[in-house]
Amino acid sequence: MTKFDRRKFLAAAPTLALSAPVLAGTIATTPKQIEGPFYPDELPLDQDNDLICEDATGLKTQGQILHMYGAVFNENAKPLSAVVVEIWQADNYGIYIHTETPNREDRDPYFQGFGRCMTDKHGRFMFRTVMPGLYEGRTQHVHLKVKQESEEVLVTQLYFAGHHGNKDDGVFNMLSAAEKERLTLYPIPFDTPYGTAYEAHFPVVIPAS
Ligand SMILES: [Fe+2]
Repeated sequence: MTKFDRRKFLAAAPTLALSAPVLAGTIATTPKQIEGPFYPDELPLDQDNDLICEDATGLKTQGQILHMYGAVFNENAKPLSAVVVEIWQADNYGIYIHTETPNREDRDPYFQGFGRCMTDKHGRFMFRTVMPGLYEGRTQHVHLKVKQESEEVLVTQLYFAGHHGNKDDGVFNMLSAAEKERLTLYPIPFDTPYGTAYEAHFPVVIPAS
């Protein structure tokens, strides 16, 4: 595990279990959404869960840092270990790492754009990334994919509470109010040596196999 916020990671699971919506003895599954056109066609050499570049000279990635803490459960509330969670998203300037993303020449070279994390024995995963920038036609969002034994079991998108673009986003507004809630992050600011960063905690729930 990378060194960032291990303490918060270890504290995350109980919060997630309590925050998962319980329906008739099971947990409501995380809504699926379209994958979209920008899943990386060429994966970066570095595919870990820290999408930020930081060296002895300091933080190089542009944007507001976001720590994402989650856990994967099945609908019977069982935490799922050894599940692979992937995220991909636009950088601070709204540009993906996909080779056909518009304005790719302007992208942040210090942003990984894609990350993977395997869940631990409690189902937990974590990412350090940036708040995604906007691109035309979409509100602020992060794409998420879950693989269990190499099989895709969930593709979806995560949104940000109160973002001004949410009301006009066609993909977001295909969801019911309850589904929106399950895909909405509520980032909380906290202080770091490099300024204010944000953290968000959320559960991911997939059907029982
Ligand atoms: Fe997107």
